[in-house]
Amino acid sequence: MMRTVLLEFSQSERLARWVTSNGVTRSMARRFVAGEELDDAIAAARACNQARRMVSLDYLGENVAGEADARRACDAYLGIFDRIAEEQLDANVSLKLTQLGLDLSEELCQSLVETIVERAASYGNFVRVDMEGSPHTHRTIELVKRVRDRSTAIGVVIQSYLYRSEQDVKDLLRIGCRIRLCKGAYKEPPEIAFPRKADVDANFVKLMQLLLQSGIYHGIATHDRRMIAATIRFATEHGILKDQFEFQMLYGIRTDFQQKLVRDGYRMRVYIPYGRDWFPYFMRRLAERPANLMFFVRNLFRAG
Ligand code: FDA
Repeated sequence: MMRTVLLEFSQSERLARWVTSNGVTRSMARRFVAGEELDDAIAAARACNQARRMVSLDYLGENVAGEADARRACDAYLGIFDRIAEEQLDANVSLKLTQLGLDLSEELCQSLVETIVERAASYGNFVRVDMEGSPHTHRTIELVKRVRDRSTAIGVVIQSYLYRSEQDVKDLLRIGCRIRLCKGAYKEPPEIAFPRKADVDANFVKLMQLLLQSGIYHGIATHDRRMIAATIRFATEHGILKDQFEFQMLYGIRTDFQQKLVRDGYRMRVYIPYGRDWFPYFMRRLAERPANLMFFVRNLFRAG
């Protein structure tokens, strides 16, 4: 119930204006967002790399209003790849297609993604396309496939809460596409997504096994100890080496666990978001865990 309300709120422009201009909420968002400028994200990435964690940088933004915004986001991503190379960071990039104009024009969006992937490939780097809500699932996968026909420096995200994901995984594995597996962070109806957490988790394990057996390098993105234990168990039983896949977690969540997995010899990538448009991302993080919301509300009252 609370999750549904928070995910509804994440679409509200008025609330976004209030939350992002309020000093208290801005400082609370810093738990999950590295900062508003690229320099903030670079500093966070450097610290992660020093702790032997890889990074994926995300310039926050989604659902742009016009072509100029989409082109600006594209330029920002080109700049991020240049900066990663300049700073010699162990980092790639995650982006959302609605930030690059998917809802304005698929042709525009594809050409911008191609430009970014070309820049990534020129550095031997990689672009991960995040998965958004279900109205974008099919178009996202199809666009990634088209771009991937020309360059393999692109991969996509699959959400275990969607019924369609098993078929998507099989199709993407057939063409050798790298996948990040996550549970899914949006509000989806029971007609297309498992409503029960137990089923989402069971599907996560099933899809993880398909990924690990594929011989392709994938990302297992979760903070869930049981999902991670199941992954480690499956890899061990099937002779899949620790460097044949990576775990991924979000910036600011379970940092101690991230470090433990690194100490145990696993590859760990931290997803580091930055930018001014952090409101919807922040709301999704609150929606994932009631304790986060309580922390947020307590701090608001304390500040008031
Ligand atoms: P689950 O929600 O069951 O949480 C397990 C435990 O992890 C919790 O008990 C808690 O301790 C901790 N935890 C989880 N979320 C937390 C939070 N917000 N704050 C504090 N603790 C928390 N989704 C999507 O739809 N599209 C995408 O492209 C991506 N991309 C992505 C990249 C990476 C690297 C990660 C880790 C996740 C995503 N996600 C995503 C989000 C994902 O779908 C999911 O919503 C969250 O990861 C939470 O699910 P868990 O697998 O962690 O399990």
